[in-house]
Amino acid sequence: MTSIGRGVAIITGASSGIGLACSKAFLAAGFEVVGLARDFSKTDLDHSNLRKECLDLSCSEAVQRVLPSILNSLTEPLKVLVCNAGIGKIGYLEQLAVADIEKVLATNLLGHILITKYCLPILKQQNECSDLIFIGSESARQGGKEGSVYSASKFGLRGFAQSLRSECAKAGVRVNLINPGAVRSSFFDDLHFEPGPGDENAILPADVAAMALTAVNLRAGTVLDEINMSPLTKVWQSK
Ligand SMILES: NC(=O)c1ccc[n+]([C@@H]2O[C@H](COP(=O)([O-])OP(=O)(O)OC[C@H]3O[C@@H](n4cnc5c(N)ncnc54)[C@H](OP(=O)(O)O)[C@@H]3O)[C@@H](O)[C@H]2O)c1
Repeated sequence: MTSIGRGVAIITGASSGIGLACSKAFLAAGFEVVGLARDFSKTDLDHSNLRKECLDLSCSEAVQRVLPSILNSLTEPLKVLVCNAGIGKIGYLEQLAVADIEKVLATNLLGHILITKYCLPILKQQNECSDLIFIGSESARQGGKEGSVYSASKFGLRGFAQSLRSECAKAGVRVNLINPGAVRSSFFDDLHFEPGPGDENAILPADVAAMALTAVNLRAGTVLDEINMSPLTKVWQSK
């Protein structure tokens, strides 16, 4: 696999965690990366092939304004879109504020539906193949106590990915869905629980990034479809 001139990868949530790890992995593999997030001041990554674009995915007006101008400005072919950004608001449904419910659905689901809508016509024009990669969750496969809205957003993303899988194959767009269990990242900063402290209690963001790159590196005629990842032992602790 050649390691230079592989085209552009747009990665949402590129300022931390899985998205940052994906940015590093795709840059190392020879992609130009356009990273999207609200705030890159916390991000310890600079690279000549990395472009950081500030965008609040939960604002559909901003997505509709910014995405076309980013896509128009690309000088290399768009080969990959990684739909990764996401937030979790965890709690019994009656306890969740309406604004938080809207924020989770707008960020995790609607924002990515819109970004994909803008990118898809371009991904379909690429020679050989191109890739849509969705970062789902184990919550996309099984709902659980206090996870209703987060799960709804991730089930929605999974259904969206499955439908596009059927719609896009003939145009050479591979649709890949990765469902991680607990990943050690800032995702838990504002939550009341986190994975246990052991190395085997959480996946690392780099593990998920490696899986995303594996999907892209597969022979053009093969698709990853859907893959589940989990820590060797599932341990949660209260904070
Ligand atoms: N950590 C886990 O255990 C776990 C497990 C399964 C699935 N996931 C999923 O993995 C994805 C990445 O999470 P992570 O673990 O890497 O968490 P993270 O370190 O908190 O990263 C989340 C990323 O999403 C971005 N983001 C959040 N809200 C945004 C908005 N409104 N507009 C634009 N960007 C926004 C954040 O950037 P800014 O704050 O700078 O905007 C950040 O880059 C999420 O979809 C999450 O649901 C995580």
